[in-house]
Amino acid sequence: MEKAKSKLNIIICGAPGCGKGTQSDLLLQKYRLIHLSTGDILRNEIEAKTDNGIIAEKLISKGEFVPDSMIVKILSKRIVEKPATCNGIILDGFPRTLSQAEALEALMTSLGKKTTILIDLVVEKEELISRLVKRGETSGRSDDNLETIKKRLEVYEIKTAPVSDFYKKLNKYAPINGMGTVEEIFSRITDVIDSIESNEVNLNEKVNACC
Ligand code: AP5
Ligand code: MG
Repeated sequence: MEKAKSKLNIIICGAPGCGKGTQSDLLLQKYRLIHLSTGDILRNEIEAKTDNGIIAEKLISKGEFVPDSMIVKILSKRIVEKPATCNGIILDGFPRTLSQAEALEALMTSLGKKTTILIDLVVEKEELISRLVKRGETSGRSDDNLETIKKRLEVYEIKTAPVSDFYKKLNKYAPINGMGTVEEIFSRITDVIDSIESNEVNLNEKVNACC
């Protein structure tokens, strides 16, 4: 009998503007995953003027993170409630702090599930700023202005670096060169995912070859 494929529970991470949303859209189509983007979820809460949205609005426009307790609660509910029929999930922008990473792993263990890999899109700072300033011309996002972009990059450096170390220790960390065209980057990501799925290639060798 053919061995059942395990679910793909992918974390896509990286600095603001690295392409998490862009690459998530392509990945969810290819692998039929559910997309959970904390940024999109929070923006919907803001639009709906929920209690969480009211708290999030001020923090997001200043480039600060929302409290861990809020985001963990929101995400946990969605992970638990996701349809059993999907091939897995893509977590875009979560976990972003060590405490969120620990909460996620504890939740997955309690559900009898595993995170597959953390894809870290590595992009040069000047390119991140240029992408976000350009997007700010049309996005209407309260955080797509130069001052807030710089603050977001600062907060990211301080708070999110420990998340990479956490997944390195779990041997689930894959840095991917996020410079180049959308298609080139997508191909680098799918190379890594497919190598995990097929189990043909040692993950670390493949990851090193991509960066
Ligand atoms: P979030 O919405 O996740 O924002 P972000 O991390 O700042 O990232 P972006 O969505 O701006 O960029 P992206 O990496 O998705 O890139 P994209 O594909 O859009 O979070 C917003 C805020 O919510 C946070 O600051 C925080 O306050 C709060 N929050 C969210 N999650 C949280 C958490 N877990 N804990 C606490 N607080 C949380 O691409 C960017 C632009 O570049 C686009 O215009 C795109 O078209 C373009 N582009 C993409 N790829 C390329 C390419 N290869 N070449 C050229 N242009 C490209
Ligand atoms: Mg995004």
